[in-house]
Amino acid sequence: MSRIHEALKKAEREGSGVTSLTDSRAPEREASIAGEREGLVKVAEVLPPPADASARVISFRFEDIKERCVQVTWRPDPLTDVFANTELGLEAAEQFRTLRSRIYHLQTEKSLRVILVTSPISGDGKSFVAMNLARAIVRQADRRVLVIDADLRSALLHSSLGAPVSPGLGEYLSGSADEMAVIQHGQEGGLYFIAGGSPVSNASELLSNARLKALIERTVPCFDWIIIDSPPCLPVADASLIAGLCDGVLLVVRSGSTPSSAARKACHELQKRNVIGIVLNGVSEKTLTYGSYYGRGQYSQATSGDST
Ligand SMILES: Nc1ncnc2c1ncn2[C@@H]1O[C@H](COP(=O)(O)OP(=O)(O)OP(=O)(O)O)[C@@H](O)[C@H]1O
Ligand SMILES: [Mg+2]
Repeated sequence: MSRIHEALKKAEREGSGVTSLTDSRAPEREASIAGEREGLVKVAEVLPPPADASARVISFRFEDIKERCVQVTWRPDPLTDVFANTELGLEAAEQFRTLRSRIYHLQTEKSLRVILVTSPISGDGKSFVAMNLARAIVRQADRRVLVIDADLRSALLHSSLGAPVSPGLGEYLSGSADEMAVIQHGQEGGLYFIAGGSPVSNASELLSNARLKALIERTVPCFDWIIIDSPPCLPVADASLIAGLCDGVLLVVRSGSTPSSAARKACHELQKRNVIGIVLNGVSEKTLTYGSYYGRGQYSQATSGDST
């Protein structure tokens, strides 16, 4: 964590918190895990989730998810898709490819397949980063990503896909829907999605129950990545709860917007979690020549022409 603190300090010293993304040392090695993925899949049947965490979890087969999940026609919002919207800047799409390369690189070093995306406060760009990272991955042939909106208090990720909000994770966690009723597949190839569901008043209780763990364990062998979008980590404990079920955490901070004190506090909150990197979101293209590189080979940033 101290390196992350150093990075935040350095960003602060540089005034706007803006630093560059380009790390020419980051190799374009991306792990091929398709074979491994197939090898992990064992059982075809769909069973009810276990009543408690100690129950034996039986994985799904990808073919079953593909066949039995909800098929929908998504109507994506082009304003939030960096691969569809050139107004966001070609650089933005390139930054997500860079971020993709970096997490694949990390995957070659350690077991990393389930990633939580969080940030200190609302509006930092968690949902933007989660969905565009997923899109960057599934643009590659044969890649599969499951994106889960775990912001049960204010689920919004479905709007960028133009997807139905329910039934979603809230319904699954409260036991009124099973996995196949909440996993959506639209027209974006290897992209699968679980929306947040109808708003709930007991988000922390639902996220602590054994069903979320079971959902991840059952689906993870079927996907190259599971990317979980979450609420901000400072006001509520939800993100920290989910982080305990994930292999790594991507922390998003927004240039010119996230207070550095909040960023530090978020690092402190997540210090016992495996923070794999910081995404500095919303960096002006003009500042991209300021070369810095944060963390353990995992720093990246998302840019767009219209952001600060
Ligand atoms: N780099 C960017 N360029 C342009 N627009 C962006 C960028 N990052 C985020 N946005 C836009 O800013 C708004 C807030 O982003 P987003 O919803 O992803 O934040 P969030 O951290 O998920 O917020 P919340 O905590 O409320 O869920 C959205 O309209 C999103 O499309
Ligand atoms: Mg969000």
